[in-house]
Amino acid sequence: MITLCLCLAIQVDFRLPRSQWILAWLFTTTFYQHKANNMQPDINRYNPEKFKNYFVTTELYKKLQEDHKILTFGHALLDIYPTDMTTRQWMAHGNFSVIAFYYLEFLTNQNTSVIYDLGCGWNIFKKYIPNIIGIGEENPKSQYYFGDIHGRVDQNYVQQHQNYFESLFSINALHFRPLRELRQIALEFISMMKPDSYGFLALNLSRMYERDYEKFKNYSQEEIENFVRGELSDLPVDYKVFEINLTPTWQVDSVVDGNIRLVCHKTVNYGSLALTL
Ligand SMILES: C[S@@+](CC[C@H](N)C(=O)[O-])C[C@H]1O[C@@H](n2cnc3c(N)ncnc32)[C@H](O)[C@@H]1O
Repeated sequence: MITLCLCLAIQVDFRLPRSQWILAWLFTTTFYQHKANNMQPDINRYNPEKFKNYFVTTELYKKLQEDHKILTFGHALLDIYPTDMTTRQWMAHGNFSVIAFYYLEFLTNQNTSVIYDLGCGWNIFKKYIPNIIGIGEENPKSQYYFGDIHGRVDQNYVQQHQNYFESLFSINALHFRPLRELRQIALEFISMMKPDSYGFLALNLSRMYERDYEKFKNYSQEEIENFVRGELSDLPVDYKVFEINLTPTWQVDSVVDGNIRLVCHKTVNYGSLALTL
């Protein structure tokens, strides 16, 4: 329908001869077909069993075990308590999701001198990966501030940090915006990475969906997923991981680790172009 309208508009507006109508038709059809088909597929999706087999052999796992009674490898909220524990028991146990370490390893493998964590909150990953620099958004005077540097990501922040971070991650911190801005959120994140650097971005779809409810309220889960995959396709990066986890329950299953997870290698320097895409 969009194709048809656009094509008609081109024909009427520019009073094209018949041969050029056909060219305009072909162009618009191909363009929109490309957009429609261009849904980013999963790449190197997290596999709990496979990751666990490897991770339990690491020193990092031993250190984590000393600090936390339960380490979870599956979906953080659905993993344990339905089978072995009541919710109250589960909440009383210090359980810690190690899922992020699967993605962080892509960054640590690059051996950069520092790795920045945007919206670090508790800044807990620094305890296990000491060269992390946490950028905390909380009030530095509050008891909930654990950042090494204080910072809040907004348009100014993005502009001042173009091609800035040699290694960057952000887990469930940049998603407090409407879902329609998803592509822009990802582009801004990428624009802050230095060329040839790695970045890990995790977002919780629910936080964005609830800020754009009117636009998306009639979308089925499949349509939402297609929207997400479409918006995140063709970004100027080489995806090392691309993963959308909207099942079994996308509303719940993401408050800790996010249900949109991207590990990107920024292969080109396109600078602040991101802000206008
Ligand atoms: C769900 S917590 C996640 C904390 C941490 N990344 C983690 O995984 O444990 C969300 C964090 O995002 C931070 N945040 C919210 N909006 C932000 C923004 N615009 N820029 C940077 N951080 C932000 C909050 O201060 C909070 O610490």
